[in-house]
Amino acid sequence: MPREDLVKVILSESELPSAWYNILPELPGEPLPPLHPGTMEPAGPADLAPLFPEALIMQEMSPDKWIDIPGEVIDVYKTWRPSPLFRSRRLEESLGLTPGKQRIYYKWEGVSPGGSHKPNTAVPQAFYNKQAGTRKLTTETGAGQWGSSLAYACALFGLECAVYMVKVSYEQKPYRRVLMETWGASVLASPSDTTQAGRNILKDHPDSTGSLGIAISEAVEVAASNDDTHYSLGSVLNHVCTHQTVVGLEAQKQMAVFEDVPDVVVGCVGGGSNFAGLSYPFAGDVLGGKVKTRFVAVEPDACPTLTRGTYAYDFGDTAGMTPLMPMYTLGHDFVPAPVHAGGLRYHGDAPSLCGLVKAGLYEAKSYPQIPVFEAAVAFARSEGWLPGPEPAHALKGAVDEALAAREADEERVVLFNLCGHGHFDMSAYEAFLAGELEDLTLSEEELQAALSTLPPQPAGV
Ligand SMILES: Cc1ncc(COP(=O)(O)O)c(C=O)c1O
Repeated sequence: MPREDLVKVILSESELPSAWYNILPELPGEPLPPLHPGTMEPAGPADLAPLFPEALIMQEMSPDKWIDIPGEVIDVYKTWRPSPLFRSRRLEESLGLTPGKQRIYYKWEGVSPGGSHKPNTAVPQAFYNKQAGTRKLTTETGAGQWGSSLAYACALFGLECAVYMVKVSYEQKPYRRVLMETWGASVLASPSDTTQAGRNILKDHPDSTGSLGIAISEAVEVAASNDDTHYSLGSVLNHVCTHQTVVGLEAQKQMAVFEDVPDVVVGCVGGGSNFAGLSYPFAGDVLGGKVKTRFVAVEPDACPTLTRGTYAYDFGDTAGMTPLMPMYTLGHDFVPAPVHAGGLRYHGDAPSLCGLVKAGLYEAKSYPQIPVFEAAVAFARSEGWLPGPEPAHALKGAVDEALAAREADEERVVLFNLCGHGHFDMSAYEAFLAGELEDLTLSEEELQAALSTLPPQPAGV
């Protein structure tokens, strides 16, 4: 029986994981490599060298199941890690779940300085770049959470930081910009006129609200054309997902203290990193035949990569500057409607996560934003914490899992990643409370138009 006397579990600093979990060697089937778009040959370390330091390139392709976390990174992690894991008793009661039968737990990543899970990878990325002699990092940001986290990490390690912020978020969240500037970063609304990629977009679409794909093109262009500058990505890549596994490794220890085991693990998916971080250690146990757990990835109706996208090789950015990655995609030209979950507006997803969906180990579902905000407000009124619009998608997925179990009169233990707070998203809550929020979905016509720009595929895919 699970512990009924606990609300949360906080581990001690000495219980912080000392290694990240790399799921790559355990994934089912032969992994498809990223491809160089010019030659269509597998992209090797040399192709990535203009953008990333060697240590991260090695992690990107590592065959090792465990990767030691450097002491300098653990020292910074201790600022907010281990993060707490809660049992959502008040939410369960407000939903009318059968007492003790359906149980919802959440890992709370909003306690980091940036307010989300993103510093879990921003800190090691800044650390390895500093070690390699990089002077400056460039990046994109959607919700502003990633840009803030990299700005914070660069401040700690004495690196310059330039953030291309998707224009719609730049306008929706002015204080995210100020936060990044407070940590010393420079912030540009994307598309901007400071890069060729940005100028090309503005020429054809002067009113473009931007997308993560466009912002990535701008940040990559600047890094690729300056020797002392590298690029840093907040999601999608293997090394990013690996860094995030501190979340799931801690959660496993905390669930053991609760004396409970999740039947289903739920997370929102923008590029896949927070869900990978929470779920991969649990998935490792499933792949090893130790337990049976379901995994549910949740995305917005407006950007339904896993639920309606095509599995294909595609670019990670709009201008086509990155290697081609095997993933579910809506097409690299796709510009999602400006839903408030800015961090979920990405056309593709992490190849590792896409592989798990394709193999049938992970399920995916999507929601329009109004029911997501209804769940977020119900959560704030019961548990107290204010979810970011992105993890509010995971919350909605978790609530629906518990309600379905109640209807079926089944026991079900649900664990989700509450991966960030919504303190900079008040304009979204304001619109919701005023009844002004709209449900934005993607028509079949728009979807087909976006998919028509996929690059030529290699034989056999
Ligand atoms: C709070 C928050 N949650 C989720 C995401 C989605 O990204 P990922 O799927 O990589 O976790 C973002 C991305 O910016 C974010 O800021």
